[in-house]
Amino acid sequence: MTRPYVIDQMISAKTIAARVEDLASEIETAFAGTDKLIVVGLLRGSFVFIGDLVRELNLNVEVDFLEASSYGDGMESSREVRILKDLRGEIGGRDVLVVEDIVDTGFTLSHVVSLLKSREPRRLETIALLDKPSRREVEVKATWTGFEIPDEFVVGYGIDFAQRNRNLPFIGKVRFTD
Ligand code: PRP
Repeated sequence: MTRPYVIDQMISAKTIAARVEDLASEIETAFAGTDKLIVVGLLRGSFVFIGDLVRELNLNVEVDFLEASSYGDGMESSREVRILKDLRGEIGGRDVLVVEDIVDTGFTLSHVVSLLKSREPRRLETIALLDKPSRREVEVKATWTGFEIPDEFVVGYGIDFAQRNRNLPFIGKVRFTD
């Protein structure tokens, strides 16, 4: 049973949309001249962000997905990341953009970046809608970040709490009421 909670809006849908538009234009500039940009969404949290982002990109885009899960073995610092679903396509020699919903400890992004770099893309950049730098355990920073946030429990715009609330159009903060 989930503890009772309410959700307070933290970043509105309108604010997110404006930021996504700005980020897309920075990405277009950075990848201007690419023949194709492979945009890789990390499942499941990035599904809303990647959908909005690619629709703002005036580039030739291919969309692919990767699912990773991180779990502890009792020691936070030795957290391992498993790949549950790999890419469908090849990325060797291609331009790649990895899309994350949130960077927390950094284990997921750091592992995925090393994995994908070993496949020798021509260029690999990363984007995260949210960043919680205060929670970082491994040194990693996305090339582009939508919003830096404090250490709050957030949901919406793809992000879940026990698989709920991914469909909220805004980013909200969970507040327990018990
Ligand atoms: C969340 C989030 C990031 C990751 C960030 O994924 O979507 O991928 O954790 O945490 P980290 O920086 O501490 O590694 P989660 O494993 O909850 O899966 P989901 O995307 O399916 O919700």
